[in-house]
Amino acid sequence: MPSSRYLARDAVRLVVEELTKNDREPVSILELGAGTGTFTERILSNLKKNDRLDVVELNAYFYKILMRRFPTHNALRLHHQDFLKFETERRYDFVISSLPYEGIPSRITRLLWEHKLSLCKPDSHIIYYKYVNFNRFRSRFEKQVVRNYFKDDKIILLNMPPARLITLKIDDPEIQKMYLREKAG
Ligand SMILES: C[S@@+](CC[C@H](N)C(=O)[O-])C[C@H]1O[C@@H](n2cnc3c(N)ncnc32)[C@H](O)[C@@H]1O
Repeated sequence: MPSSRYLARDAVRLVVEELTKNDREPVSILELGAGTGTFTERILSNLKKNDRLDVVELNAYFYKILMRRFPTHNALRLHHQDFLKFETERRYDFVISSLPYEGIPSRITRLLWEHKLSLCKPDSHIIYYKYVNFNRFRSRFEKQVVRNYFKDDKIILLNMPPARLITLKIDDPEIQKMYLREKAG
């Protein structure tokens, strides 16, 4: 089920605020698990030539839909890939993730979070949501990351199912280094 327009609007709010500022620097955004492109569409309409939106989608059917919906845009790159295999030299200002952690073993969830953190610029944001058991984290690692970087959250009832949207600010380089050291070790 695609995200509702209420979840989509709130999920991209920070990004759109940044993209619609006057005289700004180029912005780089990573979207994970875009599904049919509900968030992608809202971001894309605000991008300028030197911005960059990388979208990583594992599912072949959704990837084809994304290709059909967004055939050409200078700033957009669609990647049909498992995010764990996604490699880039780029670092991002925003990571918007729809990866379904509740259904993923905690060992894999940890790898996904470590990879996400390694691609974040200092002072970047990670935005993601949880569907069920809003306060229960299947992965202890995810819980710790949320505790360290928590900025705000919001319950979106008008979504099927209701979602808790969580925003993290990756603003402590020492903590980020610690996570990256753990990844390397
Ligand atoms: C909840 S759905 C996305 C909903 C989407 N934001 C929307 O509004 O339509 C989760 C998506 O994550 C994708 N996904 C799951 N694991 C992934 C992975 N390891 N790498 C990339 N995409 C993944 C799924 O294929 C699915 O499209």
